[in-house]
Amino acid sequence: MNASHTTRKRAALLGAHLWPLTAAIDEGGRLIIGGCNVAELARQYGTPLYLFDEVTIRESCRTWCAALTAGYQGETAVHYASKALLNSALARLIADEGLGLDVVSGGELYVALHAGFPPQRIYMHGNAKTRAELEQALSAEIGQIIVDNLDELEILANLTLYRLRPQPVALRIAPDIAADTHAHMQTGHATSKFGLPLDALDAAAERLRTAPGLRLLGLHAHLGSQLFDLDPYAAEIEVLLDTAARLRDRYGLTIQEINAGGGMGVPYTADQKPFDPYACAARLGEALTCRCRERGFPLPRLVIEPGRSIIARAGVALYTIVATKNLPHTRFLHIDGGMGDNIRPALYGARYTAVLAEQANAPAEEIVEIAGRYCESGDVLIHAAPLPRARVGDILAVPVAGAYTLSMASTYNLTPRPAVVMVNSGNVRLIQRRETYEDLIARDARDET
Ligand SMILES: Cc1ncc(COP(=O)(O)O)c(C=O)c1O
Repeated sequence: MNASHTTRKRAALLGAHLWPLTAAIDEGGRLIIGGCNVAELARQYGTPLYLFDEVTIRESCRTWCAALTAGYQGETAVHYASKALLNSALARLIADEGLGLDVVSGGELYVALHAGFPPQRIYMHGNAKTRAELEQALSAEIGQIIVDNLDELEILANLTLYRLRPQPVALRIAPDIAADTHAHMQTGHATSKFGLPLDALDAAAERLRTAPGLRLLGLHAHLGSQLFDLDPYAAEIEVLLDTAARLRDRYGLTIQEINAGGGMGVPYTADQKPFDPYACAARLGEALTCRCRERGFPLPRLVIEPGRSIIARAGVALYTIVATKNLPHTRFLHIDGGMGDNIRPALYGARYTAVLAEQANAPAEEIVEIAGRYCESGDVLIHAAPLPRARVGDILAVPVAGAYTLSMASTYNLTPRPAVVMVNSGNVRLIQRRETYEDLIARDARDET
């Protein structure tokens, strides 16, 4: 498994910026990641297999922290948005890198706490948090609950009425900014289901006045996902600061933290350029500093919540080609995964690329459709993929597969969900075992007859 004995050169992969930082190709044309032969891992652990490169995850955490510190003079914090992917090993790694964690459900909170993630560094989001989830968050004494709507605020105010230590909260606002991304990924427009409409702000402030168990610390907004343009971030800061000024002037409330959300773009295909965290952080920092100066605010703490841009590039999905089909104008490669482990192409028309893991730098000889195994015609993982001539049994490697794939995975067609491994310096760790058929019936009631 350890491929460190082979002579390696830096990946001559098309679109090297799509692959994990440690990706390389050995002399035999085999894809190596984290010092491991990827095709060998696929055969050892079975496919579909999701492989994560530890170096790439740690490096993206560090880059975002360094970029934010460089771009802003006030206090900063980077929270990983765990909806992109969460499991115990990843929660521990994120904690180890010193980041905070955003959760949006009792389940994500449970996994984070189970992994030992410090509760004070956990923030809870969600537009439909249940009473039970709010109680779970309160009893764990997490760092912040980010309130989405007036009903949630009412429940929280009542749940915390006799609390000795007030629960820190932030208000999520809908800033009325439509960012340039897929409609399903926009969240900052005025009619979004997320966040308080600006005209509900007064009611929220009034309610907070009579809620002794809650302490308003911050304001939050999140514009959407896969954003490459920085202008909307500057506009978002402006709205957040306007809101902070309104809360101060009308209600005497002091905002100590501005949370600009996540959404920073990630390239999925070779023609898309990398996103520059330093440019993004500088733009946010400059906008915030400038607006604070104008309004006479001391510099608040600046928080961002990248998810995709921390985990997407670190993940590579591995599939086996199990069948091929030649039609007059189309050749299908049928793989043993698809929308059950990665629904993004079916959900958003997301585009991916792929290589054959054992011919990673071979020239393309044909254009193929990579068809998933699930019983939906829409389950085509990649349209028009240029590949060398592929055969049954070949291992297909799909980069940028770390975010919103496994976290959205299902057992559709009762197909067990994939195993997950973490690689580093020639070592491999199974961090999540493959689901089994027993798992598929584990929740079924026993037949009493
Ligand atoms: C509130 C909030 N913060 C952060 C994120 C992370 O977004 P991304 O993974 O695009 O960085 C999301 C994703 O939808 C979100 O809803």
